[in-house]
Amino acid sequence: MNVYSLSALLAISLFGWSYIDTCHAFSIKEACISDLHLAFSQNQLTSRQLVEFYLGEISRLNPVLKSVIEINPDALLEADRADEERNDANESASSLSMLHGVPILLKDNIATKDKLNTTAGSFSLLGSVVPRDAGVVTKLRKAGAIVLGKASLSEWAHTRALKAPNGWSPRGGQGKNPYVLSVDPCGSSSGSAISVAANMVSVSIGTETRGSILCPASSNAVVGIKPTVGLTSRAGVIPVTSRQDTVGPIGRTVTDAVHVLDAIVGFDHNDAAATAAAAKFIPHGGYTQFLKVDGLNGKRIGIVRDPFFNFTNNPALAQAFEKHLQTLRLQGALLVDNVKIANLETILDFNLSGEASAVLAEFKITLNVYLKELVDSPVRTLSDIIIFNQKNPELEMLKEFGQDIFLAAEFTNGIGETELKALRNLSRLTRNGFVKLMKKYKLDALVTAGSSVAAVLAIGGFPAISVPAAYDKGVPIGTCFSGLKGSEPKLIEIAYGFEQATLIRKPPTFLP
Ligand SMILES: *[C@@H]1O[C@H](CO)[C@@H](O)[C@H](O)[C@H]1NC(C)=O
Ligand SMILES: *[C@@H]1O[C@H](CO)[C@@H](O)[C@H](O)[C@H]1NC(C)=O
Ligand SMILES: *[C@@H]1O[C@H](CO)[C@@H](O)[C@H](O)[C@H]1NC(C)=O
Ligand SMILES: *[C@@H]1O[C@H](CO)[C@@H](O)[C@H](O)[C@H]1NC(C)=O
Ligand SMILES: *[C@@H]1O[C@H](CO)[C@@H](O)[C@H](O)[C@H]1NC(C)=O
Repeated sequence: MNVYSLSALLAISLFGWSYIDTCHAFSIKEACISDLHLAFSQNQLTSRQLVEFYLGEISRLNPVLKSVIEINPDALLEADRADEERNDANESASSLSMLHGVPILLKDNIATKDKLNTTAGSFSLLGSVVPRDAGVVTKLRKAGAIVLGKASLSEWAHTRALKAPNGWSPRGGQGKNPYVLSVDPCGSSSGSAISVAANMVSVSIGTETRGSILCPASSNAVVGIKPTVGLTSRAGVIPVTSRQDTVGPIGRTVTDAVHVLDAIVGFDHNDAAATAAAAKFIPHGGYTQFLKVDGLNGKRIGIVRDPFFNFTNNPALAQAFEKHLQTLRLQGALLVDNVKIANLETILDFNLSGEASAVLAEFKITLNVYLKELVDSPVRTLSDIIIFNQKNPELEMLKEFGQDIFLAAEFTNGIGETELKALRNLSRLTRNGFVKLMKKYKLDALVTAGSSVAAVLAIGGFPAISVPAAYDKGVPIGTCFSGLKGSEPKLIEIAYGFEQATLIRKPPTFLP
C-alpha cells in the first residue's frame, strides 16, 4: 500500500474512534501512540504499514530537513516481527506494551548493536563497532519498539567547536527547522526534534547535557522530557559528562513522551551507580498515572521574570506568555511571582560558574573511556579524533568551524585543583540557587519561557519538560517546567495540564 492510500485509510478509520483518545489526532500524520496501539489491536494498521509510511515521509522530507542520518535496513523486518508477535498474542494484543510495534528514532550518539552506525555525526567514528546496545535501547527493544534509524544532531553534541551551527554535523549536514527553514532548529538533539515535529517518526530519543533536549523541543514545537540525571541509563551513549548527561524522550504530545519515558527508565548494570541511586524516584505503576487533566490544580509554581520572561522587545510574545500564566492560575495553580535564583548571572555563564572547566576535563575522561570500550574503532582517544579532523579538513569542515573545544578538552589533565574548585562551585551555586528557591517557597515547579533555564538545571542534574507554547512569526517557542530531582510525577501533571488547557502544537505547514 502506498503512503497516500494508507494516509487516507487512517484518516477514515481514526476518525471513527478518535473520541477514545486524548490526543485529538484524526490522521496518521499526527497519530499518537495510543492511536497506533488501538489501530494495531483492531487490525486496522500493521507496524509494516506504519514503517512504510514513515520511510516514505523520510525519503520525501529528509533531503530538505536533514534530520535523519541513517535508516535501519532491518526496520521492515523488525516491523514484520512485531506484527507476528501481535498476531500470536491473539485476543491479548491490547495487553502488549504501548510501544510495541512503534517506530522510534535514536540520536546518533546512542549505540545500537545492529547494522546502524553510532557516530555522533562524525566521520571519525564511521565503522566503529559498539560492544552492545545502549542501556535505553535494550529497554526500548524489550518494550517492542522498532528502531527506525539514527537522528542527526549537532556533531559530538556540540562539544567540538563553539562556532559549529546547531543541528549541523559532517555526516548529517545542516538540520532544518521545519516551521521556518532558515531558522535555527537548536540542538544538540536537533534531528530527534525535527523528525517528530515533521511526522517522520512517532517518537524519538535525545540526550541532554545542557539544553540539548529542551532547546530543540522548544524550537520545533514538540514535547521534550529531560529526566533527572540517572533516571535513564547513559551506558552506550557517546558522553559529554556523566555528571550532567541524561537521556530522554521527544514526542508530539506529553502523553507520547511519557509512554517512552516509562519504557526507558530504570536500573542498568552498565550505568549502575547513577541508575541505582535514581531508581527510588520511579513511581510504582509508572508515569502515565500522572497524565491528569486537573494536574495543575493546587500546584505551586515559581516565576523568575528576569531573564526568563524578559520579552522587552517582543510585546506579542510577552502577551502570549502572560496569557499562559493566567491559564495556569485558572487551572488552579498558585503562582509565586517575581522570585529569584541567587547568583543567576554566574550560573548562566558557562565560564564564570566553573561549568566549562569541569566539563572540559570530564569530557576528555569519559569520551576516552567510551572509545576504549568499543570492540573496534578507527579512533581510540580524543587525540585520535583531533588528528582525524586535521587529516580530513574538508570532510569535517575544519577551516569553517575549527575544533577549539576539542583542543581545550585535550589540554586538560584529569580532575585537578582547578576542576575540584569548579565542581565545589557548581554544587554551591546549585544549593544556594535553584534548591534554596524551590524549598523556600515550597515550589512544585519553576515555569520559564524557552529553554534558557537549562543551564541552571544542567549543573544540578534536575529534570524538566518543554511543552509547545507559542509561535513568533511562525517560529515555535516552548514553555519549560522544571523541578528538583525526581519531581517527574509533578512535572508531568503540570505539563499535561498545561498542554490540555492550551493545545498549542500544530504541525508545520510549509511541508508539501
Ligand atoms: C494464539 O493462537 C494460536 C493458534 O490459534 C496458539 O497456538 C497460540 O498459543 C495463541 N497465543 C496466545 C498467546 O494465546
Ligand atoms: C554504516 O557505515 C558503513 C560505512 O562504514 C556503511 O557502509 C553502512 O551502510 C552504514 N550503515 C547504515 C545503516 O547506513
Ligand atoms: C531584559 O532584557 C533587556 C535586553 O534585551 C535588558 O536591557 C533588560 O535589563 C532586561 N531586564 C528587564 C527586567 O527588563
Ligand atoms: C568562554 O570562554 C571561551 C574561551 O575563552 C570563549 O571563547 C567564550 O566566548 C566564553 N563564553 C562565555 C559565555 O563567556
Ligand atoms: C565560582 O563562582 C564565583 C561566583 O560565585 C566566581 O566568581 C568564580 O570564578 C567561580 N570559581 C570557579 C573555580 O569557577
